[in-house]
Amino acid sequence: MNASLESSKVIDSDEARKAQAAADKAPFQASADIDPSKFFITQNMDGYTEENHEVWRILYSERMKTLDQQASTVFLEGMRAIGLPSDAVPEVAAINANLAQRTGWQSRPVPGYLPAKAFFACLASGQFPTTITIRPRKQLHYLPEPDIFHDIFGHVPLHADPVFAEFLRTYGQAALHCDDPYHIERLGRLFWFTVEFGLIKEEGRTKLYGSGLISSLGESEHALRSPNVDRRPFDMDRVCETPFEIDHYQPILYVLESFEQLRDSMNKYAERVMNARKTSAA
Ligand SMILES: [Fe+2]
Repeated sequence: MNASLESSKVIDSDEARKAQAAADKAPFQASADIDPSKFFITQNMDGYTEENHEVWRILYSERMKTLDQQASTVFLEGMRAIGLPSDAVPEVAAINANLAQRTGWQSRPVPGYLPAKAFFACLASGQFPTTITIRPRKQLHYLPEPDIFHDIFGHVPLHADPVFAEFLRTYGQAALHCDDPYHIERLGRLFWFTVEFGLIKEEGRTKLYGSGLISSLGESEHALRSPNVDRRPFDMDRVCETPFEIDHYQPILYVLESFEQLRDSMNKYAERVMNARKTSAA
């Protein structure tokens, strides 16, 4: 559990400690025994300060100035579908009520960083682990770790889209049941170049959908305009073979033709991972 959570009134620290301890056990459990519900905590809405809501308002209005033009229409439609508020930190339960009617995905508050197996178990069951604290005003544009703006604003609108929702669940199931480090590394790259930093072609224009781009003005401008970015057509094998670095603007990005392309490629890859598993178990 991180230091800012310890001091936040948004969470109950005993509940958070127990949840984190359960998540930390996941890597040592059989996949089928991992119970994601043990990792989740309560979002205490009364704990948010006026500064917290102000940070959300500023970030929201800053990002919408360009996202209206630059974000994927699927993302923008998702924002409307989940009823994302512009003026205050959202209540996860209210977002979930809207998501339930669309795809059945749910966002679940978690105490902090989840080990990979715990994270995959959440995705495999259609539950998105969500940070509920928000960055301080003095760190508006520098964020070393995810916060609720990155997780809810950046990620969750796409969970309202049935095709993307199916992709993400299949991804979680393949990653959860995969024990081969070769495939785990490849799946990590796939997540990075799609869920976090993905671009998509829509009506001849390149648009943003990855949450690392959606939630950051600097990253999104660089992704769309910089001559130093190699924007490659999406190809599953090529993506999975491309290493990435996390501490600077991305020099390589992959552009989808459609979310169906991503879903269909993932379905094939999941079959491959599962078959490899069966072969090694035989
Ligand atoms: Fe993210």
